[in-house]
Amino acid sequence: MAKRVLFVCLGNICRSPLGEGIFRHLVTERGVAEQFQIESAGVGDWHMGDPPDPRTIAVAERNGISLHGQLARQVKHEDYELFHHILAMDGENLKVLKRRSPASPVARIQLLREYDPDGDGDVPDPYFGGADGFDQVYDMIHRCCSSLLEALHGDPRP
Ligand code: 4NP
Repeated sequence: MAKRVLFVCLGNICRSPLGEGIFRHLVTERGVAEQFQIESAGVGDWHMGDPPDPRTIAVAERNGISLHGQLARQVKHEDYELFHHILAMDGENLKVLKRRSPASPVARIQLLREYDPDGDGDVPDPYFGGADGFDQVYDMIHRCCSSLLEALHGDPRP
């Protein structure tokens, strides 16, 4: 059975699309893409149907990753039952996810940076900052996704 992984931020146009794109790239590189279903979503609904922010697309492309075809959507009730792992970009996203969660979701809901070997806490929102914010966020999400893959790949549980 495929392991289903959902990356979540506020708008689903900056941080979580990078999580989706980077993690998909890593599982493809590893030759295990068919073992995973990967999506992203936002707790907010403002950007539904939009492609990622141009700065998000640019930082991904600078690093050889295409986000083509990714469009923003909002987290929905079914996500809690469909996905095995829901990774929140910051504590506020996590709080909202848990508040809206059914009592016993299938998904394990946690902060993405629980997988960061170099730190913990939030992946900061780069939306209102400059371009270097996107580079920092890219590096952080890449580190987390690499160790997330190490943790999930080879674990017999979904
Ligand atoms: P994201 O960034 O949560 O990483 O996608 C944001 C995108 C848009 C807004 C806030 C954060 N916004 O306020 O529209």
